[in-house]
Amino acid sequence: MPVYSISHVENVRVCVVMVGLPARGKSLISQKIVRYLSWLSIKSKCFNVGSYRREVAKDTVINADFFDPQNPEGLNYRKQAIDTAIIDMMKWFLEENGVVGILDATNSTRKRRDMILRLCRENHIEPMFLESWCDDKELILQNIADVKTTSPDYVEKSSEFATKDFLKRIELYETVYETMDSVKDANLSFIKLVNVNAQIILNRIETYLESRIVYYVMNLHIKPRSIWLSRHGESEFNLTGQIGGDANLSERGWKYAKKLPELVLKSLGEDLQHTNLTVWTSTLKRTQQTASFLPYKKLQWKALDELDAGECDGMTYEEIEVNYPEDFKARDDDKYEYRYRGGESYRDIVIRLEPIIMELERQENILIITHQAVLRCLYAYFMNVPQEESPWMSIPLHTLIKLEPRAYSTLVSRIKADIPAVSTYKEKGTSQLGESKSSENVFKSRDLIKNSSSA
Ligand SMILES: *[C@@H]1O[C@H](CO)[C@@H](O)[C@H](O)[C@H]1NC(C)=O
Ligand SMILES: *[C@@H]1O[C@H](CO)[C@@H](O)[C@H](O)[C@H]1NC(C)=O
Ligand SMILES: *[C@@H]1O[C@H](CO)[C@@H](O)[C@H](O)[C@H]1NC(C)=O
Ligand SMILES: *[C@@H]1O[C@H](CO)[C@@H](O)[C@H](O)[C@H]1NC(C)=O
Ligand SMILES: *[C@@H]1O[C@H](CO)[C@@H](O)[C@H](O)[C@H]1NC(C)=O
Repeated sequence: MPVYSISHVENVRVCVVMVGLPARGKSLISQKIVRYLSWLSIKSKCFNVGSYRREVAKDTVINADFFDPQNPEGLNYRKQAIDTAIIDMMKWFLEENGVVGILDATNSTRKRRDMILRLCRENHIEPMFLESWCDDKELILQNIADVKTTSPDYVEKSSEFATKDFLKRIELYETVYETMDSVKDANLSFIKLVNVNAQIILNRIETYLESRIVYYVMNLHIKPRSIWLSRHGESEFNLTGQIGGDANLSERGWKYAKKLPELVLKSLGEDLQHTNLTVWTSTLKRTQQTASFLPYKKLQWKALDELDAGECDGMTYEEIEVNYPEDFKARDDDKYEYRYRGGESYRDIVIRLEPIIMELERQENILIITHQAVLRCLYAYFMNVPQEESPWMSIPLHTLIKLEPRAYSTLVSRIKADIPAVSTYKEKGTSQLGESKSSENVFKSRDLIKNSSSA
């Protein structure tokens, strides 16, 4: 059963058309929406016109002059790029049953928007415009710094050249740019973000799916911050291989709890020793015991509790294999969908984690101490790991994971506490616990757009 069958019930398909000058964070927003919706199993994809433009104009010198509205060659390439992107997007909607397509392009004159509008209407796709409007110089420069270090347009160019060229490119775009206007565009669905979220203007947001996207976007901020993830210390149940329950920490688990404050300081680094962070735990004893030595504000969330194993709560995997052989196999066959008798599946966890994700997007530095299955789901959101793989990721005990969201991907670092613990990793097809080499390498970020910059 899909969680969000809304799109099928309503039969709504949405095309989010990004609007905004270069260096306004459009690609970042596009990527985040796709990551969020995919995590909720809503089929979505981003069509970055910049990548198409690089493909069609690969034999041409790309500098600011290319983007001059008076340059017919540049205009021609850019028109080709956006046309190809739109054709690909329409194909994807029709042939692959796409639900939310994002057209990440810069060109946004009213004339061009009308053209996209007409195409969408002809194909029964709801167009929704999302403008990132920004006149905060500091924000823009920060964005440019991000773009020029990652954009393939500036490979092997000096940083000064890239900044100057990019600023010139923006100026050229400014000469034709038309912002979304609540009078002239009164009939369109649009969201206009003014300086990220200093002000947000909503116009004719109608469907449920659109309002979900709006709500998500409204919660985003771009202040630099980190998120730390840790499992609870080894518990007494982990020693016996039992799952579920509300056990105390083992002796080694307590050691980890005592060491955790030091690991956090180490991970913060010299400059940030006095940073305020908030610790989130589940309502279960083992996470609270693990957090007990941390000198920060703490918050308990029921939504962070471990996957409910229902009738299997308190059993070992061997006992489950013996007592419920079909269930044991069914879970291995489709671990994401499998729901324990009277308990939960991974998909169920994703539903109850949604408010947590929303709150995480709003907050700054957070350390989350929770459980294996819950951590896998959170991690999958940040690292864009496909749902069918996420239940098999290895997240060892006694390890602090730090995530630093950046413009085009999330940086990960792990600090091991060097306190031994049992392995609680179970590979497919066995009831034995323990980890082989292969389970480590699923730990990669999937960037939706490798190289992103304006069209
Ligand atoms: C945007 O598209 C319009 C026509 O659709 C074109 O005349 C204009 O030059 C383009 N502007 C930019 C900045 O790409
Ligand atoms: C909006 O739609 C109405 C009714 O279809 C139309 O009369 C009006 O001119 C439109 N407004 C704009 C700004 O396009
Ligand atoms: C570790 O023990 C806890 C109970 O204390 C249990 O909920 C969790 O599932 C165990 N982990 C594994 C993978 O056995
Ligand atoms: C957990 O620890 C507390 C206090 O140390 C003790 O009272 C309780 O009996 C322990 N629970 C279990 C299940 O061992
Ligand atoms: C951290 O937050 C607490 C309250 O949550 C506050 O009392 C303290 O002053 C803050 N410390 C810093 C360095 O901001």
